[in-house]
Amino acid sequence: MKLLVTGGAGFIGSNFVRQVLAKHPQYSILNLDKLTYSGNLHTLQDVMADPRHTFVRGDICDRRKVQEVLSAGVEAIVHFAAESHVDRSILDSAAFVKTNVLGTQCLLDAARAAGVRRFVLVSTDEVYGSAAPGEKFTEESRLAPNSPYAASKAGADLVARAYFRTYRFPVIITRCTNNYGPYQYPEKFLPLIITRALRGESIPVYGDGQQVRDWIYVTDHCAALDTILHQGREGEIYNLGAGNEWANVEIARRILQLLGKPESLLTYVQDRPGHDRRYALESKKVQRELGWVPETTIEAGLQQMVDWYLANGDWIRRVAARGYRAYYRRQYDRRDATLAGILKSEGRK
Ligand code: NAD
Ligand code: TYD
Repeated sequence: MKLLVTGGAGFIGSNFVRQVLAKHPQYSILNLDKLTYSGNLHTLQDVMADPRHTFVRGDICDRRKVQEVLSAGVEAIVHFAAESHVDRSILDSAAFVKTNVLGTQCLLDAARAAGVRRFVLVSTDEVYGSAAPGEKFTEESRLAPNSPYAASKAGADLVARAYFRTYRFPVIITRCTNNYGPYQYPEKFLPLIITRALRGESIPVYGDGQQVRDWIYVTDHCAALDTILHQGREGEIYNLGAGNEWANVEIARRILQLLGKPESLLTYVQDRPGHDRRYALESKKVQRELGWVPETTIEAGLQQMVDWYLANGDWIRRVAARGYRAYYRRQYDRRDATLAGILKSEGRK
């Protein structure tokens, strides 16, 4: 199979590329990525020389570029490329709507014109919004995204769904919970805990730290996508959860223990506006229809992740060197200003 992976220089996409090359010796992969701040060729170093993997730098919003890539005779697409960080979407949502909604529409159009036979859209559990205590979202739950990031992913998700309904274009949508593991850009919570703790820096815990996320090890998510790519039913949506619900402060404590670092690094800071309290999915459908279940326990996954970050200081330094530190400082300077403004305008402060 000739596969197009978009966003394959990012966290989940790169893990997927690696897994597909290992699992399917006959497959070749075109990897289209714009290399934004979160996409990095250091992340792909071990597969760049593999003749079955071709990296193409390009934007999914660039129709000509997308058409050019598809003219190589792509059979299936797994679409990861996105702006992916909620905090950034709160600061400025423009790139989120552009890449996540318009980029996806551009890709869908070009893929339909090129006769692509399978299109897997990697969506997210965040499209459902926040789950009440005890509640779990099914594939039929209503979409109620709360952050600009989640709203832009819901936009992509709905456009893709419409392409199946209207044109019978063979789309499959996946909605997965929070991923963790190697190669995750250190602005996301778990790698942020590790990288800051290793430098002895404080770790910002938003609000009361009791927000709950369901953590899935990235290779389990990739295995689900591989299964869905081959056996999923066209036009269907599959929730992908791991059943590992943790409060933020609890998972942070656990990681600090693994690193032998003190809990006193945890610093409670102002909450994220519109912060979803809990994400939780019912993922019986994929288990029942396709037999996929996540394999990595949270204990094993956290240990593997911590070991990987300890062994890959060089990767952290290289990706962080690309303006990350400056961004991070700016974000936090601006966070206070922005948050104060938002809260004030909402009458919450
Ligand atoms: P990431 O930010 O690590 O990677 C995104 C990649 O997309 C980067 O390599 C970036 O360069 C590329 N990209 C961004 N804009 C582009 C554009 N216009 N054209 C081409 N490439 C572009 O994100 P991730 O965590 O690996 O997430 C990948 C996908 O999985 C996203 O669609 C995200 O919404 C979804 N998802 C993520 C999680 C999670 O926990 N990280 C959970 C569920 C779903
Ligand atoms: P994040 O990794 O940004 O993923 P998402 O917002 O998509 O779930 O954040 C995970 C959780 O951790 C979320 O509840 C926000 C919280 N968080 C902090 O408490 N401090 C931080 O510095 C970050 C980045 C996130």
